[in-house]
Amino acid sequence: MHGFSRAALAAMIWTLVSAQVAAAPAAELPRLVERDGRHALLVDGAPFLVLGGQAHNSSNYPAALPKVWAALEDAHANTLAIPVAWEQVEPEEGSFDFAYVDTLVAQARTHGKRLVLLWFGTWKNTGPAYTPEWVKFDNRRFPRMLDADGKPSYCLSPFGEATLAADRKAFVALMRHIRNIDAARRTVIMVQVENEVGTYGLVRDHGARAEAAFRQPVPKAVLARQSGPAGRPAQGSWSEVYGDYAGQYFHSWAIASYIEEIAKAGRAVYDLPMFVNNALREPGQTGQPATVWKADFASGGPTWDVLGIYKAAAPHIDFAAPDIYMPESSKVSAVLAGFQRSDNPLLVAEMGNAAGYARYVWQIVGKGALGVVPFGIDYASYSNYPLGSKYTDRRMVEPFGQVYKLLAPMSRLWARWAFEGRTHGVAEGDDRAPQTVAMDGWQATVTFREFQFGEREYLRDKNEYAEGTEQPGGGVAIAQIGPDEFVLAGQRARVKLAPGTGKPSMYARVEEGRFDAAGKWIMERNWNGDQTDYGLNLPAEPTVLKVKMRTYEY
Ligand code: DGJ
Repeated sequence: MHGFSRAALAAMIWTLVSAQVAAAPAAELPRLVERDGRHALLVDGAPFLVLGGQAHNSSNYPAALPKVWAALEDAHANTLAIPVAWEQVEPEEGSFDFAYVDTLVAQARTHGKRLVLLWFGTWKNTGPAYTPEWVKFDNRRFPRMLDADGKPSYCLSPFGEATLAADRKAFVALMRHIRNIDAARRTVIMVQVENEVGTYGLVRDHGARAEAAFRQPVPKAVLARQSGPAGRPAQGSWSEVYGDYAGQYFHSWAIASYIEEIAKAGRAVYDLPMFVNNALREPGQTGQPATVWKADFASGGPTWDVLGIYKAAAPHIDFAAPDIYMPESSKVSAVLAGFQRSDNPLLVAEMGNAAGYARYVWQIVGKGALGVVPFGIDYASYSNYPLGSKYTDRRMVEPFGQVYKLLAPMSRLWARWAFEGRTHGVAEGDDRAPQTVAMDGWQATVTFREFQFGEREYLRDKNEYAEGTEQPGGGVAIAQIGPDEFVLAGQRARVKLAPGTGKPSMYARVEEGRFDAAGKWIMERNWNGDQTDYGLNLPAEPTVLKVKMRTYEY
């Protein structure tokens, strides 16, 4: 035996242990970065691609989680988006219960998933259903909006001072709790503040405080970001500047300002990236004036036409994200274009989980989005058909699982390429027509419904199509990783690459393989002969190719 006393030994052990603790620094705080109008979400200090899944609304209880994790695993998702409801964390005013959050975070770690927490507070799909009972039924203290005749709406007023104070207090308690349990691990990477805000059926609040605010001059910050219709004064009251749009713009400002107070207070205790999600209005052409609100969407929500107001009023909200439940390919493209701006990173916060949506993942990741989150990746016995899939089992998850399985190992690489502006993506359109992608010095032509061998004109029956292509299901994401080098990931598509110069070119290599978790390319075989004579025919099963092109002179 050596001669150390118990106390000395204990002191030595303590020194060793604390040195170890000190040597393991907390992981970096997740944050958003911007360069040349492109964006990345940094998680543990490096770009991260959210290959997400959202749980059903009522799966925010420990007993519901096993069915969520099972679906997430089958989907090969790296991130779970899931509600934390005000009603569950503060059932009695002032007494907080974060047991569910603790279970959720612990289980996310076991499953190797990150979390995006959705704060269901004052507004969930515009309504107060997720507020605690002591809020929901006390309309004197927590007023609802009033119409022009003084008749109450279902929707809580953004001018309710007590409502804001109470929601903010609960949200701050949540953020403090997350910081306490997660600052060393960063399992929680983003927080959505409220859910699909706005109001159906009423363009703005007419309560006394709202009326007084409506008569005030439009704040300078709003004027700087949101111009009014042509021919109207550049400043003045909401009605003067925005005319027929005044009600919607004012309500957007009121809700965004309310959310700002909550986000700002939450970030003061734990500075995670925060965003809002949008129940879409019909997409329009970015930059052109929208039509006036005709009770055809939730007024006051962060629709594409009022993003400037949200930027002005809610600087602590990093971006507004679309919830895509419009299956038409032309609308999806318009929505993505409307929400991807140099001042607004693109995250598809929700998307239908019906099979037809899976092909949009190629387009979304190709566009350099922060990520995509199909809704209802959850084996709870519940389907939101016709918005999403009829199925609640593997048949629902599979189309997304196939795509994520391929992308997951290369997701860190992909996020870096996207941030560098190297990526492009297309999804098969409802018209099944060819699409072209302009890249640096090269062009890709993507066609669909092809057989793998030969050209369409070789077919006796020109209307004969490859099996399994009855519904649009193709897509490809392309990263240009060098001047003449590409990574193609996709399915059910034929890709032909041609140089912009018009010079003759050939494939130097067409390697099929995969990236391992460390980002190293593992080549499995080289495509040649029939496999390249008619373009690069990506089969139904998602496939990754690493392609090297060369031009030559005669
Ligand atoms: C969009 C909402 O944000 C979700 O919480 C959910 O209600 C879906 N709509 C419909 O399932």
